[in-house]
Formats: sequence, C-alpha cells, structure tokens
Amino acid sequence: MDIQYHSTHIPVLCAEMLETLAPSPGKVYLDGTFGGGGYTRAILKTNVAKVIAFDRDSDAVKRAEPFKEEFGERFEIVHACFSDIHKHIEPGTVDGIVFDFGISSYQVDEAHRGFSFRQNGPLDMRMGIGSQYSAADVVNTFKEKDIADILYLYGEESRSKKIAKAIVEARSIQPFETTQELALLIRKIVPSQEGFDPATLTFQGLRIFVNNELIEIERALQLSNQLLPIGGRLVTVAFHALEDRLIKNHSQMDFNHQGYLCSYAKINKKVIVPSQEEVRSNPRSRSAKLRGFIKQVRR
Ligand SMILES: C[S@@+](CC[C@H](N)C(=O)[O-])C[C@H]1O[C@@H](n2cnc3c(N)ncnc32)[C@H](O)[C@@H]1O
Repeated sequence: MDIQYHSTHIPVLCAEMLETLAPSPGKVYLDGTFGGGGYTRAILKTNVAKVIAFDRDSDAVKRAEPFKEEFGERFEIVHACFSDIHKHIEPGTVDGIVFDFGISSYQVDEAHRGFSFRQNGPLDMRMGIGSQYSAADVVNTFKEKDIADILYLYGEESRSKKIAKAIVEARSIQPFETTQELALLIRKIVPSQEGFDPATLTFQGLRIFVNNELIEIERALQLSNQLLPIGGRLVTVAFHALEDRLIKNHSQMDFNHQGYLCSYAKINKKVIVPSQEEVRSNPRSRSAKLRGFIKQVRR
C-alpha cells in the first residue's frame, strides 16, 4: 500500500545533536530512531562512512527508500526495535549512537494510527513491531486496577482511578473503538485547564504502555554500553520526565565492558533544550531534552 504523506517531521535540536555527536569522516553511526530521517540525513551530510538506522514502524522504513538511492551503501535501514540492535550490530563497529525517543509527527498526524486525541481514528497507538496490545485492547479488556496503574505510572495522571472507573463503566455499555470516544469521556469527567487537554496524560500513559517504551529505552541504553567502543558517543533526546529520568540514571552507572570498568562522561555540563526560536517555529520541540555522553574507562 502506498503511504500518503500528509505531514512532515521537523527534526528537533538537530544542530545540537550534530555538535554533541561530533561525527567524523570515515566513521560509522547508529540512528536508533529513523522517523523521517532528519538526523540520519544530517549525519550522512558530514561525510561519515555510514549510518545504520533502525525503526520499528514500517511506514518509517518505507520513508527510508529514497535514502538508499541517495546515499547508496553509506546508508542502511533495519526494521527492528532498538531493543534488538545487538542482533544486527557487532560490538565496537559503530562509533556513535543517537536516539530521538518518542513519536514522530507522521505518527501523531496520521489519524488512522490512533495516537492523537485531537483527531478521530481507531484507538490503536501501536508504533509498529513489538507491541502486544492496541490501546483499544487495554481499555476494553484490562482490569480497572491495571488501567489505573498504567495511567498513573506511565501518564503520571493523578486522576487515574477516576478515569479507569469511568472507562470500565462506559465499556460495559459500548466498547471503545475510536480515539474520540475515549477523549470525550475523559473531557467529560476531568476538569480542563487552559491550554491542556484533559486527555493528554491518559493518551501518554496508554501509548507508553502499548509500545513498552520505557523497557525499550532501558534495554537500548544497556546495549549501547556494549556496542560503543571506548571514546564512542551516545546522544539522547527525551520528551518527557520518565524518559529523561531513565537516561540520567543510566548515565550515572558504571558498567563492565570486556573486563574494564567503564562509565560515561557528560559532553555538556547542562542538559540542552531548544531555543525560544526553535519552540516558536516547532512547538512540538518544547519539551525536548538532549544529553550526550562519551564512554570511558573508569580510573
Ligand atoms: C521522534 S521520531 C525520530 C525522528 C528522527 N530523529 C528524525 O529526525 O526524523 C521517533 C521514531 O522512533 C521510532 N521508535 C520509537 N520507539 C522505537 C523502538 N523501540 N525501536 C525502534 N524504533 C522506535 C518511532 O517509530 C519514530 O519513527
């Protein structure tokens, strides 16, 4: 099936990512989250030897086709979760790794993907391979307590119990099929605050659960420890506190690599956030946080 591109993804903090990753000619880089290929393209343009990109979403992999024509053997796309990068990459064969966590604008803007509480579509939210349940499966079949836990843990939704109760009552009359059915129910029972849709945190919680996002991230960070050589760089972009906390904690842990005790040195003292100008021109960048690290032997 041909995909229709109604939207575009503007890469977030792209110049800052490049500066932090500092790609060098002749080296090989891994882009764990291809999306629209903004980061991959920016890295390839610096005359590196190769970029190997991953994405779990088959639409993203289709979007990578023209890259193959443009960059030939300098570009490779792998349709896989980043929790599986070790199955495709030998340790020490990539010099730097970048992850731009979260979802792409293509995914949010395509109503049929079911991520958006602003548009009507099937209540799906699966990014691609590696998801066991759709969001509709969760709200229609999980126990009330489990739904409340998902909204609380992954959405940081303080009204999780109230929302879960309302979901279970509503589904006994009619199971949820669309994003709007769920969003309307939440808007009915949770008071709205200016500029913040009451459905935001519920949708975030369901999306993170459906895509196993935090476990995926934790695993990808652990694998990066093993795949990077000493001196290799790891750059991450997070979009909410749960992701950023995982990255911060991970970067503070020592780890064993081939008999050496290793750790990460911060490339930038402070977390990098978008400028006011970037947020103005791309409001979706507003919550981004970029961190960069160099793998080192601990002395
Ligand atoms: C924010 S977008 C990346 C945008 C990209 N940096 C660009 O410049 O176009 C995140 C992408 O990561 C993918 N993704 C999210 N979780 C993933 C996972 N566990 N494994 C592989 N890809 C994943 C999503 O499908 C999405 O296409």
